[in-house]
Amino acid sequence: MGALQSMTTTLEVPLGPSEAFEAVLAELEDGLSRGGSTLRTGAQGGVVQRGEVVAKVTAWEPGRRLILEWRPATWKADEQVNVELRFDAISDGTRITFEVRGWGGVFSEDVEDLAGWFGSGLLAPLFYAISPDGLGNWLTDRRVRRPTGPRARAIYADPIFHWPNFLLILDRISLKADDNLLEVGCGGGAFMRKALESGGRATAVDHSPEMVRLTIEQNRMAVAHGVLTVLEAEADRLPVADETFTCAVMTGVIGFLPDPVGALKEIRRALQPGGRIAVFGGTAALKGTPAAPEPFASRIRFFEKAEFEQIGHQAGFVDVQVDEPDLEGYARTAKVPEEAIELFQGGGGALLLTGRKA
Ligand SMILES: C[S@@+](CC[C@H](N)C(=O)[O-])C[C@H]1O[C@@H](n2cnc3c(N)ncnc32)[C@H](O)[C@@H]1O
Repeated sequence: MGALQSMTTTLEVPLGPSEAFEAVLAELEDGLSRGGSTLRTGAQGGVVQRGEVVAKVTAWEPGRRLILEWRPATWKADEQVNVELRFDAISDGTRITFEVRGWGGVFSEDVEDLAGWFGSGLLAPLFYAISPDGLGNWLTDRRVRRPTGPRARAIYADPIFHWPNFLLILDRISLKADDNLLEVGCGGGAFMRKALESGGRATAVDHSPEMVRLTIEQNRMAVAHGVLTVLEAEADRLPVADETFTCAVMTGVIGFLPDPVGALKEIRRALQPGGRIAVFGGTAALKGTPAAPEPFASRIRFFEKAEFEQIGHQAGFVDVQVDEPDLEGYARTAKVPEEAIELFQGGGGALLLTGRKA
């Protein structure tokens, strides 16, 4: 008694075992790295946490299973458990099984701790993951706030519904070959690809490592020629020198920022005197539309026109102007499908702030 002998979780997915294996392993690697651990794949692989090997691969059979010899308590030399991740073909997909065996000794001296760890250490994160908050936040991060995964990569490589905003911004900022552009929250680098047609230089920043990689892929020649630098960073801590850029753009990002004024101040710091800024955001009219459906809508901040203008002033910009632009013409130029054109007619909730650093 007093020992949890095994834990098992299963999930059935409509993917073949090889596809499921690859997808789960890629996400596991990514998720662990966000928590500060490294998953080393392959037969010699394992899991490393703060420089210490906590698990060693003992079976590596891609598309079938992965077994790890796991040391949950490196401070107790002989504690060792067996962790298996199995991918079994079923009639319409794959059953993925996660099993931990031999958890027995870890809490052998304190059964209350065993129950405590099971409740708060294991079940609470699981309950959160399947709750509206946990799921809503996960989906918002994955799709829009810090995009990751194959679907996000496909969308942000060429975000058809963002092209009207991109074309509007490019019209307003009139880039020239002697401009040095900063884009914050560059997503997959589609706006940047178009902006670089002006012949200028640029730096693109995003806090999603996958979006940084995609922006590099999408602008390979510009990066190779030193015309474009792509950086992984937070909007309010840009790793760039003061007074570097002549122009800055942020589109579809400001609603996710906890401190929009702070982020705009940071952009202002990076701009040369006279440098211009364009920020595209939205009003609450977008809430619940295809541009901002749930669960994202309740996690995005929307602005009133006057509030948006005030943010520009508070960040220290001059000549601040906020428009509610009609995007229909830009949507037609961008070849947005006819049935979606009405979303761009009239103001529709779009807000464009322009200004400059004195
Ligand atoms: C909705 S996407 C828009 C991407 C691109 N601008 C576009 O319009 O297609 C929001 C982007 O902002 C990035 N982002 C959100 N918050 C950020 C932050 N605090 N710092 C840097 N990037 C951020 C996300 O990773 C994501 O790539």
